[in-house]
Amino acid sequence: MISGAPASGKGTQCELIVKKFGLVHISTGDLLRAEVSAETEIGNKAKEFMNAGRLVPDEIVTAMVTARLSLQDAKEKGWLLDGYPRSSAQAESLEKLNVRPDIYVVLDVPDEILINRCVGRRLDPETGKIYHVKNFPPETEEIKARLVTRPDDTEGKVKARLDIYKKNADAILSTYSNIMVKIDGNQSKEVVFKEIDSLLSQVQRDEVKLLKSE
Ligand code: AP5
Repeated sequence: MISGAPASGKGTQCELIVKKFGLVHISTGDLLRAEVSAETEIGNKAKEFMNAGRLVPDEIVTAMVTARLSLQDAKEKGWLLDGYPRSSAQAESLEKLNVRPDIYVVLDVPDEILINRCVGRRLDPETGKIYHVKNFPPETEEIKARLVTRPDDTEGKVKARLDIYKKNADAILSTYSNIMVKIDGNQSKEVVFKEIDSLLSQVQRDEVKLLKSE
């Protein structure tokens, strides 16, 4: 499970984690954005909350996540949950279903950096790749021309999202305190990934040991 404030780098790290570890990436933000673009019933309900930088009601998000977790690929390959749980009620829902991560990674980044990262973020709607106008500009003019800005990435909305994150963070932490590892997310993405890679590789080694001892 990966957590952290808006723009702490969760999506960026998830791309690298999936590439190396082959886990199924379940991002509630991405799932909700897909529903919004497809103009589904869920998307239409979620849109106003997301555009205002507020949390989408728990029942909508929890139903989406539990449905995705129950698919065969998540059971076989393992999962990487990004952006969920985001409230104590959501954490409780997972506990009731006996869904626990092996490790809970929290990316820690100072507020002023987060705001700059959000305002400069651009998304490639074709590949889903995350860019930043200064930190990670697109590779070609063709990609640059199709990049989009998220409607919740204005300074005011980022501040609202950050506030909500801070209000909920401690309640969720208490559920995972024994498996929580905080990482300094204000380093290059390669350095952040190196730290996550070493943690996940250790989890893998521990699991192999456990399987051998059974
Ligand atoms: P969601 O999409 O999950 O947004 P978020 O948590 O606010 O996180 P972000 O996607 O903004 O940032 P990130 O941490 O992935 O950073 P990224 O890698 O892109 O949720 C959106 C909305 O959906 C919510 O507000 C809510 O309405 C709803 N929602 C989602 N889940 C919900 C739930 N469980 N319950 C209820 N509602 C829910 O990086 C950001 C930028 O920084 C990029 O430009 C990137 O290039 C750059 N960057 C990344 N790493 C670095 C680095 N190391 N150095 C420099 N720049 C970097």
